Amino acid sequence: MSRLEKHLADGATGNADWQARKEAAFSRAQSNMAPVYIERARNAEMWDIEGRRYIDFASGIAVCSTGHANPGVTAAVQAQLQRFSHTAFGITPYTSAVELAEKLNELAPGSTPKKTMLVTTGAEAVENSVKIARAHTRRRGVIAFYGGFHGRTLLAMGLTGKVTPYKNMFGPFPGEIYHAPFPVGYHGISTQDSLDALDKLFKADIAPADVAAIIVEPVQGEGGFYPAPDEFLRALRQLCDAHGIVLIADEIQSGFARTGKFFACEYAGIEPDLMTVAKGVAGGFPLAAVVGKAAIMDAPLPGGLGGTYAGSPLGCAAALAVIDIIAGEKLLERANRIGVLFANRLSRMQAKFPAVIGDVRAKRGAMVAMELVKNGQADQPDPDLTRDLVNRAWQNGLILLSCGTRGNVIRFLPALTISDELAEEGIDIVEQCLATLLGPG
Ligand SMILES: Cc1ncc(COP(=O)(O)O)c(C=O)c1O
Repeated sequence: MSRLEKHLADGATGNADWQARKEAAFSRAQSNMAPVYIERARNAEMWDIEGRRYIDFASGIAVCSTGHANPGVTAAVQAQLQRFSHTAFGITPYTSAVELAEKLNELAPGSTPKKTMLVTTGAEAVENSVKIARAHTRRRGVIAFYGGFHGRTLLAMGLTGKVTPYKNMFGPFPGEIYHAPFPVGYHGISTQDSLDALDKLFKADIAPADVAAIIVEPVQGEGGFYPAPDEFLRALRQLCDAHGIVLIADEIQSGFARTGKFFACEYAGIEPDLMTVAKGVAGGFPLAAVVGKAAIMDAPLPGGLGGTYAGSPLGCAAALAVIDIIAGEKLLERANRIGVLFANRLSRMQAKFPAVIGDVRAKRGAMVAMELVKNGQADQPDPDLTRDLVNRAWQNGLILLSCGTRGNVIRFLPALTISDELAEEGIDIVEQCLATLLGPG
């Protein structure tokens, strides 16, 4: 019996039935953007249980960068599955995890010798990066940025600089977390403004000598797809060096070829002390890592880091395949070409709809965004139009994601293996949906 036949035998006939069952069975807090139940997905396309096709500009939130059901990833995971699925790396390890750690150490920017630790999710990687930084510095404070997103566990949430819907009603959060403004030129916050705010924070809230780590996304993801200016990342590097603070680059969304470099912090030419990696690293399998300078990574005591599923064999097999695919299919170059395609199309769209497309951000490979506003004004966000566009898009066969602290950014995260034709077809849908929503004139 096929999955679809089973769905039908269970009494459900389509997406609406399953959505009703889902709403009855799940906490309302675990909501879904589109009431669309996926039956099959290949590369940058998905099909739902009613046979409807979708172009995927979300890639499972920047995870399936090598495309859905990539044959190389699937074969590697199937081969691993035949051998064993789990032994617990902390009990009886396996060679694939060691090979993966060696590769991650090589790929991490900078010449300082690196070491790795593997976990399962991005939030876990973030939590562990803070633990490692605290063990290394024996200090307590952590500085993060407004608009940053670092995950949904309590420490990661505490670091996150976006309240709704993530933080409402969940406090108190762990202490000793401080937030500073992230530089966003489009909103009038310069690198100097952010550095001045850090200086004030050091005077008003916590001495730099008590700060264990500064955590920053080289391109803010959930916060609105704002690339950190190169000079800002370089200034943070200098600040951390001056005060013995651990600089953590959260590359969970921006890493693994998404931006046209292996890691987005390479644009600024900096070497972070620690880097968090997840999402695209394992092409759809749950795997995450902290990769960093060996001396810092070795600060916690033996046994101080780990977890039952940490570095799952299936995730390791997938990640080794993903690394080969990125090299073999030249996906760094491809990410940049996709970025150019989107940049051209979106700037033409902006010229057509100047009052609503306030900003197009397409200078970081295939991590592209447009910000929707009213009257062409950066300070007049249009979250309603953004939500309507996302909804209209899936109704017309395109999976789009929004983001931004004001809820007014459309982010584009296509698979790096998407064809130009499919990317163009998806952008056509965006344009048609926007034109329909805005109406004549
Ligand atoms: C930059 C960043 N950090 C951390 C996370 C959390 O990762 P996960 O959802 O795998 O816990 C995310 C997820 O969106 C992210 O984008």
